[in-house]
Amino acid sequence: ETTTFSDYNEPFRPQYHFSPPANWMNDPNGMVFHKGEYHLFYQYYPDSNVWGPMHWGHATSKNLIEWKNLPVAIAPDSLGWIFSGSAVLDSENSSGLGTAENPPLVAIYTYHNNVKGDAGRIDFQTQGIAYSLDDGVSWEKFSGNPVLANPGIRDFRDPKVTKVEVDGKAMWVMSLAVKDKISFYSSSNLLEWEHESDFNPAWAAYGGVWECPDLFPLQSPNGEQKWVLLVSINPGGPNGGSATQYFVGDFDGETFTTNQEEVKWLDHGTDNYAGVTWSNVPDADGRTIFIGWMSNWDYAQVVPTEVWRSAMTLPRELSLYDEGEELWVASNPVKEVEQLRDEALTIEGEEVALENELLEFSLKPKAGDFSGTFENEFGEILVIGKREDALFIDRTNSGLTNFKEGFASVMTAPLNGLEINEVRIMLDRSSVEVFINDGALAMTALVFPEHPYSKLLLNGFEKENKAYSLKKIW
Ligand code: FRU
Repeated sequence: ETTTFSDYNEPFRPQYHFSPPANWMNDPNGMVFHKGEYHLFYQYYPDSNVWGPMHWGHATSKNLIEWKNLPVAIAPDSLGWIFSGSAVLDSENSSGLGTAENPPLVAIYTYHNNVKGDAGRIDFQTQGIAYSLDDGVSWEKFSGNPVLANPGIRDFRDPKVTKVEVDGKAMWVMSLAVKDKISFYSSSNLLEWEHESDFNPAWAAYGGVWECPDLFPLQSPNGEQKWVLLVSINPGGPNGGSATQYFVGDFDGETFTTNQEEVKWLDHGTDNYAGVTWSNVPDADGRTIFIGWMSNWDYAQVVPTEVWRSAMTLPRELSLYDEGEELWVASNPVKEVEQLRDEALTIEGEEVALENELLEFSLKPKAGDFSGTFENEFGEILVIGKREDALFIDRTNSGLTNFKEGFASVMTAPLNGLEINEVRIMLDRSSVEVFINDGALAMTALVFPEHPYSKLLLNGFEKENKAYSLKKIW
């Protein structure tokens, strides 16, 4: 396998987001916190800058900001390519794959086999297991793979395993995307799985296959424990292509139920897909930490980068808030992101000269419409604003757009009367992430300006705004 390393300074190379050293990346996988390190695995094709035979690439971080690249963790074998999945610390050694003294880290992933099975049966996807006894550095495949056979459905993938306590007893629950529903399986040992239930309410967003589910508990503002189910869909997103919807409800160890009756999006932009949360984050931390793939299947393989393709979103903390008698998921950059702040910049007046391409803004809008326009002397313009009760990002003339029909777009998110206190904008070389009111609404978009934006024009904001130049991490 060839992985060439780069200086991380190519045009459009993210400077404070995770991107692979070289070649193709998609979904984040196997995220587990272990012995002071956040492990991040990812869908990786080490031989090309487009999608192909999938491996799990690997990186670790102590602070979710600075990442260390490690060798490929899991590679294809005779059972197939290694698709998306999750990882857990099997602290009681329930699988028997480790010892009581050295419990294993266990990765559960999808095997994607292009070969038709016996008697013409479509046997594309099964679930397999690999384990690590050296804290995630090297991974051994389980000899009894696959652990979950294909029932005769082509799309049967992306196992996300959660440890669930039911009546004081811990068990493993797997959420699996099965065509256009989520199936829940349970296990006491991670090796044998039993089907419990399916979830696919009629009013949910379909439009394409369901992928990359995640099930986790979150406390409501009044202290009640709720369960959140994330489901990525492709296509069918609110602004085209791939996007992640969520459901807030309850889970009793077997069945997920919800009173929700309308589709809710974790991020309204075009470029946050297949995201899931870290497992094994200590209770004392108490956070639910998410990262997404910052791209969209509509154009991911043709974005104008060569050495590598794709980056992750900023890591985000998920929480519940209530609005209009309903519960919603907020996603806000983790507090560690503040470590990126280098210099505080003063904003005076409505025209701000930009001397850095890595920037954070915290803007306070007046009531009514507003806009922040980033531009440069080459006519590249990126507009973020509010118009007619909707937030929008206009990337029509933001830079290179002609690599794919439809990339030059205006994306919108309904505000439903939400009063905006803060517009936080995180700008990197080829992305912008917008967070309203601590992440009550998030919007992520790729942009490819050929020259850094050199000016920001503010329209409709109060005088007290904050801005920072950010550190280059890579
Ligand atoms: C989502 C996805 C997953 C699959 C993986 C393959 O982007 O299609 O469903 O496991 O990518 O790379």
